[in-house]
This record gives sequence, C-alpha cells and structure tokens, in this order.
Amino acid sequence: MSRRLIRDPLILLLLVGSSLAVVKNTKTLSLKDGSVLQVSFSHPTGDAYIQRISIAPASNVTCNITNVSSETSFIIAQIHTYQYNVTLSYTEDDLNKVSNNSVFGSNIGLLIRPGLNIMTQLYLKNDNVHHVDALLVGIPYNDKAPVPGGCNMEFNTKIAPYAKVVADDTTVVVDVQPASIPFNNTAQPICEKNKVELEIYQMFLSEQDFTIDSYFIGITNMLTVEDIIQNGRKISGSQALTPMRRVFNAYTGTGSVYAAVAKYGNYSASYVPGFSYACSPLLYPESCQLLTEIFPRLVCAGCFFVGLWAVLRGPFLSIPTFFTGTVIGYVIAEASKGSYNPSANIAIALTIGITFLLLTMCCSITWPLINKLLLTFNVGFFFACVAYFCSPDEFLLVHNSWIFWTLFILLFVIITFLTAISFPVSLPASSAIFSAYMMILPLDYYFGSALKYIIINVIRRMTVKGFEQAVVLPPVQAKDITFIVMWTLFALYAFVKYWLPSKTFGVSEETPLISE
Ligand SMILES: *[C@@H]1O[C@H](CO)[C@@H](O)[C@H](O)[C@H]1NC(C)=O
Ligand SMILES: *[C@@H]1O[C@H](CO)[C@@H](O)[C@H](O)[C@H]1NC(C)=O
Ligand SMILES: *[C@@H]1O[C@H](CO)[C@@H](O)[C@H](O)[C@H]1NC(C)=O
Ligand SMILES: *[C@@H]1O[C@H](CO)[C@@H](O)[C@H](O)[C@H]1NC(C)=O
Ligand SMILES: *[C@@H]1O[C@H](CO)[C@@H](O)[C@H](O)[C@H]1NC(C)=O
Repeated sequence: MSRRLIRDPLILLLLVGSSLAVVKNTKTLSLKDGSVLQVSFSHPTGDAYIQRISIAPASNVTCNITNVSSETSFIIAQIHTYQYNVTLSYTEDDLNKVSNNSVFGSNIGLLIRPGLNIMTQLYLKNDNVHHVDALLVGIPYNDKAPVPGGCNMEFNTKIAPYAKVVADDTTVVVDVQPASIPFNNTAQPICEKNKVELEIYQMFLSEQDFTIDSYFIGITNMLTVEDIIQNGRKISGSQALTPMRRVFNAYTGTGSVYAAVAKYGNYSASYVPGFSYACSPLLYPESCQLLTEIFPRLVCAGCFFVGLWAVLRGPFLSIPTFFTGTVIGYVIAEASKGSYNPSANIAIALTIGITFLLLTMCCSITWPLINKLLLTFNVGFFFACVAYFCSPDEFLLVHNSWIFWTLFILLFVIITFLTAISFPVSLPASSAIFSAYMMILPLDYYFGSALKYIIINVIRRMTVKGFEQAVVLPPVQAKDITFIVMWTLFALYAFVKYWLPSKTFGVSEETPLISE
C-alpha cells in the first residue's frame, strides 16, 4: 500500500509530462469521406506508430499501409476513439454490416500480415453524426512473437487481438482471447493449449477527468509491451475465472485502461488495450456522478455537518452506531431493491440508522454497557472494511467467499476485542475516527475520490452477485492522499481534544465521554 501511495501519483505526473508532448505535438490529420491515409511503416518491431486523426461525420476512409520492413511478420492495427464507435474492416464491403471481417467499437484492432504484399489496406467507417477524434496505432512484430488473439474462439473475427470491456454499475468485465504461438513462417496460427502465457495490466487515469487529451495519454502509455509493464499494474486472475477474464470493481468516473500481454519464451506482444470510465460521460453525463438526486445530496451535506459538530463537540458514542446502522440499512435496502432508486434506499438507510441511534440512546440510560459493546462492534466492522479496501491484488484467497467472510469476521472479532480491552483510549479514538470520516465522506463524493469505497466495496460484496471475483484495487491519487491526510488530522485533533480533558481533570471515563 505505502509503495503504491507514492508510486502512482508520481507515475501519473511523469506520464502527463512526457506523453502530453506526443499527443499534442503530432499533427491531427483531418479525414473526409473517401480520404486515403497513406501510412509508411518502416517501424522497428515492437515500437508503436501513433497518428492522431479526426474523421468527418458519416465517412469512409481507406488506410494504405506501405513500406513495411521485411522483418515484420504481422502488425496489430488499432483505432482508439473517444466514446464514439467506429468500424474497422479488412474489406470495403464489410464496413456496413456485422461480419467476421470487421470490428465495431471504440478500442478496436485487426491483425494484418503484410507478407509479400507491397501494400495492405484497411477500411474505416464513422457513421456517427459527429466528428470523431481517434488515435490510429500500428505495432509491428517479428515472426518470433506470439500472436494476440490468434486462438480466438468467441469473438467475430478469425484473429481477435482486442479486448471486450463490459461495464455496469458495480463491475467492469474485461475479456480477451487466447494467443497463439509465433507464426514462424506458417500461414495459420497454431493453437497449443497453455503454451502462451497471458498477463493483464491496468492503469487508472485521474479521477473524474473526462478530457480527451487525458484519454489519449492513457491509451498512448499502454500500447507497447514495455510501456504496459512500466505503467500498468499487473492483475492476477481469480482461480474461478478463465485466465482470459478479469473482473474489476467499478470506480465510477475514473477512467481505466486495460491491457493484455502475451508471452512466449523471450518474446511478447501486446493486445489492443481496452478502456472504461465505468460510466458514459458523453451519452449520459449523470451516469458518472454517484449523487445525482437532491435528497442524497442533502443527506451528504448533512453528514458533513454532523461530522464537524462531533469533531468539535464530541465525543459521541452514538456516532459510530448511527453510522454503521445507516450502512446496514443501506445493505438491506440494496439487497431487497425492486427497482434502483437511490433516494428510497437512502431514506430506508437513514431510518434504520436513526432507529439504531435511538435504541442505543435509550439503552445507554438504563444499561451503559450495551452502548459500549455496540461501539466496539462498529469499530471492528469499520476496520474490517478498511482491510478489504486495502487488500493487495496478489492475495487471491479474497476471491473465495468462504475464506473472505471467515477472515472478515475474524478481523472483526479481533478488533472488537482489542477495542473492548482498551476502553479509555478506544472510546475517544473511535469516536474521533468515525466523526472525521463523516466529515471527509461528503468531500470525497463532491471531489470524486475513492475513500467512500471503503464502505461501498463491502456493500457490493454483500449485495452484488459475482462481486467476489472483482479486483478491488482502488486508485490512489493526489485527491485520495489529501483526504487521507485531512481525515488523519481531523481525527487526531478530535482525539486529543476528547482525551486531554479526561486526563487533566482526572474525571472518570464514564461520564464525560457519553455526551448523548
Ligand atoms: C520506407 O522506409 C525507409 C526506411 O526503412 C525510408 O528511408 C523511406 O523513406 C520510406 N519510404 C517512404 C515512401 O516513406
Ligand atoms: C491506395 O491503395 C489503392 C488500392 O491499391 C490504390 O488504388 C490507391 O492509389 C492507393 N492510394 C494511395 C494514395 O497510394
Ligand atoms: C458503442 O457501442 C456500445 C456497444 O457496442 C454501446 O453500448 C455504446 O453506447 C456505443 N457508444 C456510442 C457513443 O454510441
Ligand atoms: C465468415 O462468415 C462467412 C459468412 O458469413 C462464412 O462463410 C465464413 O466461413 C466465416 N469465416 C470464418 C473464418 O468464420
Ligand atoms: C532467452 O534469452 C536468453 C538470454 O537472453 C537465452 O539464454 C535463452 O536461451 C532464451 N530463451 C529462448 C526460449 O529463446
């Protein structure tokens, strides 16, 4: 965790610096209907040819690829558009229909084998009513390199070097097809089981950054094998899935590039990277915000003021109970939902939270111990959530539901126990941590960072079918770090404030701490 904390923001800064130049300085080629794009392709194998293009509405464009070096066995030609879909085809006829000679989408590619041909052609069609900005990419490989998607069994085209990315509200599923061993002068790919190793990497863009330049920078940095390994983080698969599939937690509104690498002996080749914001900023901008309705926004703002008040005036034993009660209420609302309605869910959650609050307040008068017990449970639950949020991807056992919930409960019990045996410290400490988190949470929603997922990930784990396979690795960026620092400072401030009076005045821990 700590290495990632420092590494990711640094990489992001470096990437933005170096690649902005590539993306900005290369001239954008404007293509009209009937344009022929001449690509002279004398690239060394493994390096990427990158050209930014802009395609006029409703137009067909031809790509003539010439001057391919004799070393080249095949080229992975790719088109990356921003949000809009286009068609890339081997033949002009197949541009207008679904066929096994063309692909449709926004991160697509085809494999071409120039062989002895002087010139190879590809056809591109934009049937949107808008200009579409795109990156045209070509990466040549020699005949020792494995062939990405060479052993395709499921996608339309015979060889399928691209990834399929399907995103919904909670997960992003990335699929690629198996690679074949190198062509070695044969005409057809040769498919031997498990001969070619597959690795999948991921890289986040900045949170809530939907600019087209950032998108192109992200793609540019995940094209060649070398760049992918340097800039991405490797994602281990879950045993229960095919090795060709990864499931990711949807960090809504944070762009993410998914790139696969095929390895055979000393040679490797990269697939066409896939991409998702886990929402559609262009078609449905509101899908990229988690709080779109008025009522959840008001609740969120209210959360900040309750947190602030508790930090300044606390400690309140009931704050953690109220918080956890609301989370439990939300899980119940989510799990039993007929239709997705955030306002209704939050209303149910709040009602249950307030019921918990009232119950503990009543009980604490007659039986203070129960309040303390509840508090320890909250602390246990919260820290188990934090542990899931921070769990490293290499820890594959987390994908097994039995083991996961056993560990979760074990951690819960241990922390609950530790809290219980250290009441004089743990009471003010937990009240401080929860109150400060309640202050940070609305800011986190507003600025689009990832700390809310400490709770959301566990709610998803409880309510979303298939979520156990998801990789939860959160983005750790400047905003997240700022909020972690603020959270720590608020909590420290509150803790010192609660702790000092009870020390200096030697008051018994019972009375001043329970202010409710
Ligand atoms: C073809 O590639 C060579 C280098 O391999 C280069 O010198 C030449 O200019 C290229 N031809 C065209 C038409 O771009
Ligand atoms: C592109 O290829 C086509 C078909 O071979 C050819 O007719 C055309 O002249 C080429 N265009 C250019 C600009 O070389
Ligand atoms: C692109 O195609 C996908 C499915 O193939 C679709 O979900 C998406 O809405 C399309 N995007 C646009 C901008 O039309
Ligand atoms: C592609 O589709 C055509 C007809 O739709 C079919 O005849 C042909 O066998 C298919 N080719 C492959 C490689 O699947
Ligand atoms: C890989 O490269 C190393 C040295 O660079 C060489 O010793 C080894 O034989 C190579 N392996 C294969 C399978 O080519």
